[in-house]
Amino acid sequence: MLDELERIRETALQALAQAQDAQALEAWRVAHLGRKSPLMQVFPKLGQLPPEERPLVGKRANEIRQELEAAYAERAEALRQEAIRRAVEQERLDVTLPGRRPAPGRLHPVTQTIRRITAIFAEMGFQVLRSREVETDEYNFQLLNIPPHHPAREMQDTFYVKSGGDGETYPVVLRTHTSPGQIHAMRQATGYTGAGPLPENPPPLRVVLPGMVYRYEAITARSEIQFTQVEGLAVGRHITFSDLKGTLADFARRMFGPTARVRFRASHFPFTEPSAEVDVECFLCGGKGCNVCKHTGWLEILGAGMVHPVVLRNGGYDPEKYTGFAFGMGPERITMLRHHIEDIRYFWSGDLRFLEQF
Ligand code: FA5
Repeated sequence: MLDELERIRETALQALAQAQDAQALEAWRVAHLGRKSPLMQVFPKLGQLPPEERPLVGKRANEIRQELEAAYAERAEALRQEAIRRAVEQERLDVTLPGRRPAPGRLHPVTQTIRRITAIFAEMGFQVLRSREVETDEYNFQLLNIPPHHPAREMQDTFYVKSGGDGETYPVVLRTHTSPGQIHAMRQATGYTGAGPLPENPPPLRVVLPGMVYRYEAITARSEIQFTQVEGLAVGRHITFSDLKGTLADFARRMFGPTARVRFRASHFPFTEPSAEVDVECFLCGGKGCNVCKHTGWLEILGAGMVHPVVLRNGGYDPEKYTGFAFGMGPERITMLRHHIEDIRYFWSGDLRFLEQF
């Protein structure tokens, strides 16, 4: 019986050396250490042996079982190491190579322009305020002196979030311009809620309001349905049109260079009177005329005017005592001019080849 045990041991160890992967190893374990393996079959038969042989055979069988179990564990570990070594070799990981540099993000070109614009006005003493993008029809139009059915609404085709219904409640819209921020800023300063007497001594106000606006328009190289504006508003005693001209002329010099000139053309907005479109002298050709300025020497950058008395009153300022000016400009168009960008659609295309240039 002892000889038999030694043969079992020999066969098992030889077979173990042949196992090359986890599957073969498991098959070996079942065959040589499993319940039906020759070694394990020895134990139930011990009782049939002569009493003097029993302890010897039992002891030896146990030793062999322990030896095989240890050999199995060792082989399993060796195979595991081998698998790792092979995987590492196949991946050809060279840990001495320099790491990949994470691509740092940067500000969108339009955001850069907005920051430049607001920084210039902040230097002139304007506060920077934010206003909501979803507005009531009342704030977007009516309080700005644009009643229902006014033809000026046609200039700004509108995305409606909720229709008005019964004529009492106003529809909810995506704001078509940043001008409703004028009403919010004035009411915040005066505490006026739209009803009752006008406040006695409301404070003067100088604010710029940057933000996103939305118009239901055909998308073209010059027009988007989603773009930004920067609104400006100054209200106080004795503010005149020359203050507006001086402020915008100074802005143009700081934004476009010390020799940049501005020109005012008569225009119309329901919320300003008088109103103007403001052009800056083409900084690409110096006013001589080129493709970008369509050979006029001038580039249109914003709309502006003296705040309409109705709008002042809606904000809580008595138009007999207070005056103000307002303007609204389009940072996309300004960015296009500054960087010779020919198509406004690039801004929302999400194309890194475009964005990485700024
Ligand atoms: C207005 O929106 C007025 N609220 C501006 C204003 C404010 C006038 C305060 C007087 C007092 P307008 O629709 O012209 O005006 O738009 C102003 C600027 O927004 C334009 O000069 C242009 O730069 C930009 N803009 C207008 N429509 C688009 C568009 N579809 N895509 C990109 N930019 C646009």
